Amino acid sequence: MAPDAKVMAPNAIAGHCGEGQIEPRAEPKHTLLLAWLRCRLWSYFMALHQTVETRDPSIEDVYSSGASERRLPKYRLPDHSTAPSTAYNLVRDELLLDGNSRQNLATFCTTWVEPEVQQLMADSIDKNMIDKDEYPQTAEIENRCVHIIADLWHAPKSWQTVGCSTTGSSEAAMLGGLALKWSWKKRREAAGLSTDKPNFVCGPVQICWKKFARYFDVEIREVPLRDGALGLRPEDLREFCDENTIGVVATLGVTFTGIYEPVAALAHELDSLQRELGLDIPIHVDAASGGFIAPFIQQELSWDFSIERVKSINASGHKYGLAPLGVGWIIWRAKADLPEDLIFYVDYLGGNMATFALNFSRPGGEIIAQYYNFLRLGREGYARIQQACSDTAQWLASEIAKIEPLELVYDGNGGLPAVCYKLKDGIEHGFTLYDLSERVRMRGWQIASYPLPSDRQDIVVQRVLVRHGVSRDLIAMLLDDLHKAIAFLQKNPIPHSEAGPTFSHGALSAVDTTANL
Ligand SMILES: Cc1ncc(COP(=O)(O)O)c(C=O)c1O
Repeated sequence: MAPDAKVMAPNAIAGHCGEGQIEPRAEPKHTLLLAWLRCRLWSYFMALHQTVETRDPSIEDVYSSGASERRLPKYRLPDHSTAPSTAYNLVRDELLLDGNSRQNLATFCTTWVEPEVQQLMADSIDKNMIDKDEYPQTAEIENRCVHIIADLWHAPKSWQTVGCSTTGSSEAAMLGGLALKWSWKKRREAAGLSTDKPNFVCGPVQICWKKFARYFDVEIREVPLRDGALGLRPEDLREFCDENTIGVVATLGVTFTGIYEPVAALAHELDSLQRELGLDIPIHVDAASGGFIAPFIQQELSWDFSIERVKSINASGHKYGLAPLGVGWIIWRAKADLPEDLIFYVDYLGGNMATFALNFSRPGGEIIAQYYNFLRLGREGYARIQQACSDTAQWLASEIAKIEPLELVYDGNGGLPAVCYKLKDGIEHGFTLYDLSERVRMRGWQIASYPLPSDRQDIVVQRVLVRHGVSRDLIAMLLDDLHKAIAFLQKNPIPHSEAGPTFSHGALSAVDTTANL
């Protein structure tokens, strides 16, 4: 109606309607009456027109807009555009159903950052870290991080060694594994030996190593947890290693429990194997979480490049490295430990930069934020934060030990700032740890419950990770809720509970659906 109304608007009466560019003429009375009527009619249509105008998305309320009257698209791109503020609000509302990351005690990853980190991330939203020519200073910052981390991990010539950022520890593990495979292949080829059956030996590893095995065709020899073990033990190596072993993967911060595998003792045993059997097997340390804990609060521990057999180490910058999500690191002990065939060279600023990565384009912000943290916190700042997390974890463990049905599996001492516990054996509790996870979820807490890997898969554990931003007070509130939840479940047992693991250490595989835990 509004456009029609516009067509009807007579120029002659414009002045009467208050829009007056045109001088009013002397008209007969009936003409004036007609003009007055037309003017009223015009105002009426204008009023209607203005009502329709409020459908203008730029001024309309989000929740009375057309877009908010429909469900959001799931399978097809919408035909038309939506105003930015409407689209923003509607998408943000969908995210209300996500858990609150600060109460997610199942994740190792950063959930709290300083405003300056947020600012740097926003400042660098347009920086592609692979474009070394366009963003040479981001490349320089990545390079600085590599050498700072190499120094932290006692690489003999940290200023010379090689390494790179990755999307996380998973990509870093792939690169570390590939370097081991290539080095082994070269040695075997040089000796005229077969290269068709590579394997690697490990304890209970994160899913990324199962992916590495399958994607890059290497047999994984995951040593079962025997005799109450929680990780790989030196005495396991002799049975599982042979001439086709490309390396041993030791984990500093086992995903399932938080304990450290004994890297120095494993290396010592491999030294014996070399002396006795002539097998020279390198170690890669998956220090996804421990790589940014041990150098600060367990300095006496020998686990890194100070052990000669350790040839490469990975860690997640976005876990205890305190960077925002999306950055990991892989560092080699020395240049010679990264086979040349795997390196690509790109020219930048007249120089020549080595790259070795699975991804090409990637955001630069996380790397920049990692460097910010190094500058902002220094050794002292990292040590204070990690010590505070470790103290809180150990305090939580001491309180868990007092809770009747629970038994500690790891008390937060000597490994990651984490606590791992199970239900006491030989007692009918009337509920499972899965039920307990579900119950505390009602208060927003996300706590992982899952079975241990073979041979201890009959044991279900619950794990709480204490990281930056998880304060003593927050953990005290969690404890209150755990007490209440256990009391409730004891009063209201669930004899045929169907609750199961809701947490996985990786995606389910189509081929092996048990590989995720
Ligand atoms: C020991 C270990 N390795 C590797 C990973 C994978 O790390 P990311 O999530 O950074 O890829 C994890 C994740 O929890 C882990 O705990």
